[in-house]
Amino acid sequence: MEVNIEKLTNLGLGLARVDGRVVFVENACPGDVAEIKITHENKNFSRAQITQIIKPSPHRIKPRCAMQKVCGACQLQFIDYNYQLELKRQIVEDVIRKIGGIDIEILPTVPSPETFPCRYKIQYPIAVKKSGRMVAGYYKPRTNEIVNIKHCPVQPEICDKIMDFVRERAPKNLRHIVIRSSVSTGKNLVTLVVSEGDFSKLAKEIFDKFDNVTGVCVNFNLAKTNVILGKETRCLVGDDFITEKILDKTFKIGADTFFQVNPPSAENIFAYVCDNVSGTVLDAYAGVSAFGACVASNCDKVISVEENHNACELARQMNIANLEIINMDAGKFLQQSQQKFDTIILDPPRKGCTAQVLDDACRLTRKGNPAEAGKIIYVSCNPATLARDLKYLVANGAKIESIQPFDMFCHTYHVETVAIIRSE
Ligand SMILES: C[S@@+](CC[C@H](N)C(=O)[O-])C[C@H]1O[C@@H](n2cnc3c(N)ncnc32)[C@H](O)[C@@H]1O
Repeated sequence: MEVNIEKLTNLGLGLARVDGRVVFVENACPGDVAEIKITHENKNFSRAQITQIIKPSPHRIKPRCAMQKVCGACQLQFIDYNYQLELKRQIVEDVIRKIGGIDIEILPTVPSPETFPCRYKIQYPIAVKKSGRMVAGYYKPRTNEIVNIKHCPVQPEICDKIMDFVRERAPKNLRHIVIRSSVSTGKNLVTLVVSEGDFSKLAKEIFDKFDNVTGVCVNFNLAKTNVILGKETRCLVGDDFITEKILDKTFKIGADTFFQVNPPSAENIFAYVCDNVSGTVLDAYAGVSAFGACVASNCDKVISVEENHNACELARQMNIANLEIINMDAGKFLQQSQQKFDTIILDPPRKGCTAQVLDDACRLTRKGNPAEAGKIIYVSCNPATLARDLKYLVANGAKIESIQPFDMFCHTYHVETVAIIRSE
C-alpha cells in the first residue's frame, strides 16, 4: 500500500496512516511517499518496511556510511543535517505536548559543532564465529545480530584501527570493547569487557601498537543482561583515565564514569547552563561534576552529588575551592537536605526523576516568595521522561521558562534537551 510519511516519532520511525490506523515505518523520512509492507500488527498500530519509494522526501541524501541501512547506530544519516535538527525539535515538541500536556515553543535545536566525527565513546559487542572469525560492531535493528563494522565515519578513525587489530587476534571471552576518545588530546582509553580470562597480553599489545592509546583496562562482566560494564574494572597497562578539556576545565574520564559522548556539543550545553545559573547551586546526577566544575566560577557555592564512587574521586582531583563533591544517591541527598538552592541542575539517566526527587527539588528552590523563586535546570537525554517530569512539575505549581534541544547524538533520533523551570 502507498502512504505519506507524516512525521518522525521519538523512536526514529516514520509515522503514516492507513485508513486512520497508525503505521510506524522503518527508514522513512517525513515527506516520503512510499509503498510499504506491513511486518507486524498490534492492537493499536502496525509496523512496516518500505518496499519502494514512490516520491522521496527532498531531505533525503546519500548517507556517508555504506552500512547505514544495515547498522542500527545512525538511523537518520540519510536525512540532510539541517532537517535532522528540525526533526529533533519536532520530536521534543510532540512529546512535550502529548505526554507532558504542555504547549510551549521549542527552540531550534543547537547543532553539533562537528558531525563527522561526533561520537567519542564507542561500545562494540563482540562475537567469535564458529570459523574463528571475530565480528564487532553495532546490532542490526531489533536483532542480536552484530554488524561487523570496519569503518565508522562518526567515530574517530583510530577506533577502526584498534578494532582491526583486536579482530586479527580474535580473543575468546571478550564480550565488548569500549573506547573513550578525547577530542582535546586525541588520546584513547580502551576497556576490554570480558567474562573471564587473562587479557594482559592483548592489553600490552594494544598499548604498544598505538601511541594514542594511553591506557587499557579490563572489566569483568558475567551477567547475561544488556548492561555493558560489570562492577569490577582493573587497569592492565598505562593510565586508567583520559582527560578532556571543556570550556576552561580539564576533566578526568575513567573507564566506568559517565561523560557526554560528544564533548564539542556538550560544551555548548555547559556554556548554556553557565549563562543561567548563579548563587548556590546543586548539581545532581553529576558524573565527574561536568556541570558543577563549569558553573563554579559563576557561582558562590556548588554541590555535586553522584552515586558512582570513581566519578566522585576524579571530580575531587580538580580541586575547585567552591565545589563540594558528595558521593551519594541524589534522591536521598535531596530528601535529607534542608538547604535552599538558587538553582538545582538535574541530569538524571534516561529513566528520569522520581516524583519524590521533583518534589524535593521544588521544596529546596522555593523561598516562600515567588519573586525569589529558584530555578530547576533539567538536562535530559530522553524527551519522553522529560515530558512526564515536566507535567508533574507544572501540576505542582512550577513554570517552564524555556526548552532548548541540543544535537549531542548526530545522525540518530536521540536528542539532548535542557528545560529551564521556575519552581515558584
Ligand atoms: C546522564 S549522566 C550525567 C552526568 C553529568 N551531569 C554529565 O553531564 O557528565 C547521569 C549520572 O547520574 C549518575 N546516577 C544515576 N543514578 C543516580 C542516583 N540515584 N544518584 C546519584 N547519581 C546517579 C550516573 O552515575 C551518571 O553519572
